[in-house]
Amino acid sequence: MSPIASLPQRQPESLALSQAPARTPELSVIVPTFKESGNVAALVQRLDAALEGHDWEAIFVDDDSPDGTWENVKAIAATDARVRCLRRVSRRGLAGACIEGMLSSSAPYVAVMDADLQHDENLLPRMLATLKRDETDLVVGSRYVEGGSAHSFSKSRGVISRAAAGLARLWTHVELTDPMSGFFMMRRDRFDPLAASLSIQGFKILLDIIISAKGALRIVEEPYVFGSRTYGESKLDAQVGLDFFGLLLTKLTGGAVTPRFLSYALVGTIGLSVHLAVLRTALLGFGMVFAQAQAVAALAAMTGNFLLNNSLTFREKRLTGFAMVKGLFGFYAISSVGALTNVGVASWLYAYEPVWWLAGLAGALMGVVWNYSMSTLLVWRAK
Ligand code: GDD
Ligand code: MN
Repeated sequence: MSPIASLPQRQPESLALSQAPARTPELSVIVPTFKESGNVAALVQRLDAALEGHDWEAIFVDDDSPDGTWENVKAIAATDARVRCLRRVSRRGLAGACIEGMLSSSAPYVAVMDADLQHDENLLPRMLATLKRDETDLVVGSRYVEGGSAHSFSKSRGVISRAAAGLARLWTHVELTDPMSGFFMMRRDRFDPLAASLSIQGFKILLDIIISAKGALRIVEEPYVFGSRTYGESKLDAQVGLDFFGLLLTKLTGGAVTPRFLSYALVGTIGLSVHLAVLRTALLGFGMVFAQAQAVAALAAMTGNFLLNNSLTFREKRLTGFAMVKGLFGFYAISSVGALTNVGVASWLYAYEPVWWLAGLAGALMGVVWNYSMSTLLVWRAK
């Protein structure tokens, strides 16, 4: 008897399964939410009207909003099986939320749309029809093609958005008027193979998908009018530009330089200026001896770096209260070892190759890489 024939039979389970009620819907609408409690009911109503006659579901991906968003979604889901809620804890981020939502779908088509009613849900049936004609893999809702508009945009947002579109066009060779759009629909079989190469940080999920696909997607744009928010506030005004250039950099360096590392290095550079300014004041203003002044300057720079990293670089893991004090001392310890590593590497290199700037640079780089990896691992670890 072959070993396979001796495996237990699965008959009874498949019998039970044959009574399973519905099949997977045709379209999953992924809605990332953070503090949108006042918008979810209205959105479901609008989807219901716009997608009448279609087989759809809405998957809300909520990052544990403190305003009751996920509770609201689950209350709706209790009476409407088309609505699901994926509540994520201990993590934040629009791109990651969209990716997890799309990954949780088994439907042949997936759409991503904001919860705040700024995206016109009436575009969804048109997008679906375009995809079903089978000549398109991805439909993008655009504010810039003929018929679309973004008049509710602030001036600076408009400028950043257009600049990014221009850059993306140069780089991806894809003619898109709105690569920063957060409103799109695609075939799931085109999304699935790309998922693992997407960045979970930032807001530029669509651009990331297009870049990662390396020209393999057939893309069409459809115009819509970007509405205004009535409930809640935008989460990405201040960050939208920074984020975009961060993504460009990560992709250009093949993932070696992440936006977070860049932010860390930038804070380090600011720390250097703090160090020099304090050193000067301590020496000239307070007449300290050099070693003492240098120690005070180092302490000031480390403290400043810690505070900046805590509120910028690791903002979604920000430490407060006692954890912050503990983190500060951890950061002192790591930075001190980092300084030793720096000096060690530089002196070792200098002994072989006495070029001062090269040895200095290599030491500094080692120091920052050490500090960064250890801080990520030990100080701002995932809670
Ligand atoms: N789960 C989750 N986690 N959702 C988030 C997060 C987060 O960290 N941050 C924002 N969201 C949700 C919001 O609740 C909203 O449903 C949607 O993502 C868009 O966020 P907004 O804060 O409303 O963004 P916006 O209107 O300023 O930006 C729009 O335009 C950008 C282009 O300039 C969005 O469509 C962006 O996706 C788009 O890139
Ligand atoms: Mn919005």
